[in-house]
Amino acid sequence: MAAKLRAKIAGTGSYLPEKVLTNFDLEGMVETSDEWIITRTGIRERRIAATESCTDMAAKAAERALKSAGVTASEIELVVVGTVTPEMSFPSTACFVQSRLEIKTGVPAFDLSAACSGFLYALDVAEKYVAAGVAKKALVIGVDRFSQLIDWSDRSTCVLFGDGAGAVVLSATRGKSGVMASNIHSDGRKWDMLYAPGEAAKTPFVEQGDQRSSDEEHRSQYLSMSGNETFKVAVRTMVASIKEALKDAGIGAEEIKLLIPHQANQRIIKATRERLKLPEERVYMNLDKYGNTSAGSIPIALDEASREGRLKRGDIVVFVAFGGGLTWSSAAVRW
Ligand code: UT7
Repeated sequence: MAAKLRAKIAGTGSYLPEKVLTNFDLEGMVETSDEWIITRTGIRERRIAATESCTDMAAKAAERALKSAGVTASEIELVVVGTVTPEMSFPSTACFVQSRLEIKTGVPAFDLSAACSGFLYALDVAEKYVAAGVAKKALVIGVDRFSQLIDWSDRSTCVLFGDGAGAVVLSATRGKSGVMASNIHSDGRKWDMLYAPGEAAKTPFVEQGDQRSSDEEHRSQYLSMSGNETFKVAVRTMVASIKEALKDAGIGAEEIKLLIPHQANQRIIKATRERLKLPEERVYMNLDKYGNTSAGSIPIALDEASREGRLKRGDIVVFVAFGGGLTWSSAAVRW
């Protein structure tokens, strides 16, 4: 009997915008300090897409992933993009990437909305197409341009986020490498812990009721977060999600060579690591340079870890994310 089909990560790529925004720059914009931001989050600077669009970042990350995989765009049979800041309401950013990279006409391309868990949701879906033999090669992208959702006068959120994109090429294999287990979860009842309304334009058909103040109007477009509450739920759900992935893959936490968590806050990552009894050197962090890039965070970190030689063939790498929705997700992969 032939061995099971698996989705192997054949290549990685990422793109970070040129513009760097440091904690010191933020000191000049809101009442904050480099010291507060570093102690509470671990972030020193982040990148801002001043000239790049969502598609620009996604396409560049994807091109780099194709190059690293040694795969041409014409071989891609599926494009899935995790994003909550798409190029347009429609068409999907995945369709824009298909066009920009000259991926074949007819190949399915679609976006998934799962906020900071967007990349792992996209990976979970694409992996199932590959493992079922429907697509031999798939492009999976996580991209967000959160700078467009942020109220830059709100110090409780504007110091946390940055822009960026990461991508992987999945390739069908009957070898041992590839996704061993993957889970995705949501709890829509807790939607109001972390959200960005991005209100639609008013129509002449909807009664507006009481006039809202221009201040309310202004704030209703932007990202809102209950930081403390989000922190606690993030640790709890990420630990549970990792344990589920390990159980489904039939391995123990001690076998994890590298944990690549969503880069939201170094204190969240530390609390997660301690609950799994993982040594510090087995957990990847780059949030000091980029902040929280939402769906970009895990594939950017994976690309850097891979380029730094942190992953060898056969190593177990585990991803875990948490974000608005609420959503959370984890995957265990043999490199
Ligand atoms: O992608 C997943 C989604 N997001 C997350 O995972 C974020 C989860 N939450 C967090 O990372 C943390 O809760 C934050 C970093 C957002 C906040 O850290 P905290 O230790 O929970 O601080 P806090 O919200 O309890 O605020 C402590 C104090 C407050 O002042 P008072 O009320 O104690 O006087 C805030 O007003 O810090 C103040 N504060 C700031 N001070 C300087 C809040 N933001 C700032 C700031 N600079 N930027």
